[in-house]
Amino acid sequence: MNESIQTAEWTSICTVDDIPVLGSRRVARSKGAAVALFRTSTDKVFALLDRCPHKGGPLSQGIVFGESVACPMHNWTIGLCDGVAAAPDVGCTPKFALQVIEGQVYLHTQELATLGTDLPLPVAGPGQRTCAA
Ligand code: FES
Repeated sequence: MNESIQTAEWTSICTVDDIPVLGSRRVARSKGAAVALFRTSTDKVFALLDRCPHKGGPLSQGIVFGESVACPMHNWTIGLCDGVAAAPDVGCTPKFALQVIEGQVYLHTQELATLGTDLPLPVAGPGQRTCAA
């Protein structure tokens, strides 16, 4: 394991293989919207708040393509690396720091507990694949 990982700072979530290719997995939190983990066709993993910046659609239920996800509600395209909506749309959803080490996905513990917890919950129901944080 990489020496930079400190268990107090990083929380082990799941393995990369637990996330479907070109799909997502929700990480439930005790407070606020879930975190959505996304896996690209090249096995890159990204983490965004599971809440579209437009009207709160559940991004975990969107379609992953390239390094973007299309929101299932009104088809906005959100960048996985930064959470920013593609022009001409304007908006941003919080992104979460993560590390993948030896196939294990870690989220930053402090961000997992606090980032985006003040935002309203997504407008639609949760996805089917959820793992506890
Ligand atoms: S809620 Fe995501 S595009 Fe409208």
